[in-house]
Amino acid sequence: MNPELKDFMEQPQHAPGKCLMSRRKFLLTSGAATATVMVVLNAGTPMAKEVPGVVTTYPRKFITKLSALKTDKPVDFGYPDKGAYAESIIVKLGVEAGGGIGPGRDVVAFNNYCTHQGGDLADTYKGDTKSLGACPLHLSTYDLTRHGILISGQAYQSLPQILLELEGDKIYAVGVFGLIFGRFDNLQG
Ligand code: FES
Repeated sequence: MNPELKDFMEQPQHAPGKCLMSRRKFLLTSGAATATVMVVLNAGTPMAKEVPGVVTTYPRKFITKLSALKTDKPVDFGYPDKGAYAESIIVKLGVEAGGGIGPGRDVVAFNNYCTHQGGDLADTYKGDTKSLGACPLHLSTYDLTRHGILISGQAYQSLPQILLELEGDKIYAVGVFGLIFGRFDNLQG
C-alpha cells in the first residue's frame, strides 16, 4: 500500500467499517435542503435593500418502499431528472454504510456512471464486497459502504451518492453528494 493511502486509512474516521462522515455532516455538505438566503436588490445604489429569497435545490422524489428492498438486489431509478447520466441505483447492503437509511442504516443510492469517463456501471454491483464496478472501460471500482470512495482504477473522484430520506416505509431521493459525470451542474436538466 502506498504511504499516502496508508496514512489516510490509519485515520480513525477512515478505518475499514467506519463511515467517512456523520449523517448530519453528510446532509449539510450535500446541500440537499431548501435554503432561505438574503438577496440584495439594486446593490450599489441608494435603493439597495435586502430581501429574503428562497434557493431551491434538488427535487424530492419517491423512489421505492423500504419493505420492497432485498439485500444485495439493486433497484434502478432516475435522479435528479430524466436527463443524461441520471440513472442511479438504490441498494440494501446488509451492512451499515455512510449516508445509509433504515433500521440498519444500510440502504444507499448512487449515480450509475463512472466519474472517470462516464463508463456505465449498470449490473456491476458485487454483494460480497458491497462495491460497484469494475467499470467496463478502465476498471474503476467504488465502495458503497463509504460514500462511493474509489477502491481501485483510473477514476479520482468518488461516485456521486444520492441522498435519501425515509418517511414511514417510503424512501425519497432529496439530493446528490458529488458531481454527476457529464454535467457542470447536477441540476442542469
Ligand atoms: S470510465 Fe470508468 S474507469 Fe474510465
